[in-house]
Amino acid sequence: MAGWFITFEGVEGSGKTTQIRLAGEFLREKGFPVFMTQEPGGTPLGERIREILLNRGGFDISGEAEVFLFAAARAQHADAVIRPALEKGQVILCDRFSDATIAYQAYGRGLPLEAVREICRSASRGLSPRLTLLFDLPVEKGLERAFLRIAGREEANREDRFERENLDFHRRIREGYLTIAREEPGRVKIVDASRDIESTRIEVRAILSSFLGV
Ligand code: TYD
Repeated sequence: MAGWFITFEGVEGSGKTTQIRLAGEFLREKGFPVFMTQEPGGTPLGERIREILLNRGGFDISGEAEVFLFAAARAQHADAVIRPALEKGQVILCDRFSDATIAYQAYGRGLPLEAVREICRSASRGLSPRLTLLFDLPVEKGLERAFLRIAGREEANREDRFERENLDFHRRIREGYLTIAREEPGRVKIVDASRDIESTRIEVRAILSSFLGV
């Protein structure tokens, strides 16, 4: 496939959503055909699943049900959106992908790692990012930022089902992400996300420039 598949990952409040937007602007200025998308979401089906997963649904979702919902959204997204964009030669910047399922559902929720990996592989049919930027910071700091943002939203639009989990859950997720980064240092680049937006933006730019050769 001709394009580039790049993912942005991190714990709550890591600022990756701001950075993905800035990265998109930067790459467009450099003349790249950029396509930005997110998970869960990215397709009409994915957006519906996102509402179920992230809003206060008022009903329980078991860990197993949760992993399959994320996987269902991913299967549709990978086939209907990401593969076609790659074939068109686009640079895809995706807010979360399979690493999020490994970090949140396997490390965070405690579902068996190999089983979750297998679900991710079959959902994406082996599609994997060429580069992943992992925005890392202490979970306390990230959650503080995340709750400030959530407080500014209307009650009905609060996507806070994960933020409301306890600190240990978030610490396990951070550890999970850092483990993935240690296992795949060629693909996963850790970005220190505890700093201000501008310093992080400069580091992201440097990583993307060397990766895409600009
Ligand atoms: P995201 O939209 O990135 O939210 P935020 O901008 O607040 O980080 O992700 C939505 C939430 O879904 C986030 O709490 C992480 C969670 N998630 C999983 O648990 N598993 C997954 O596979 C994905 C893609 C997301």
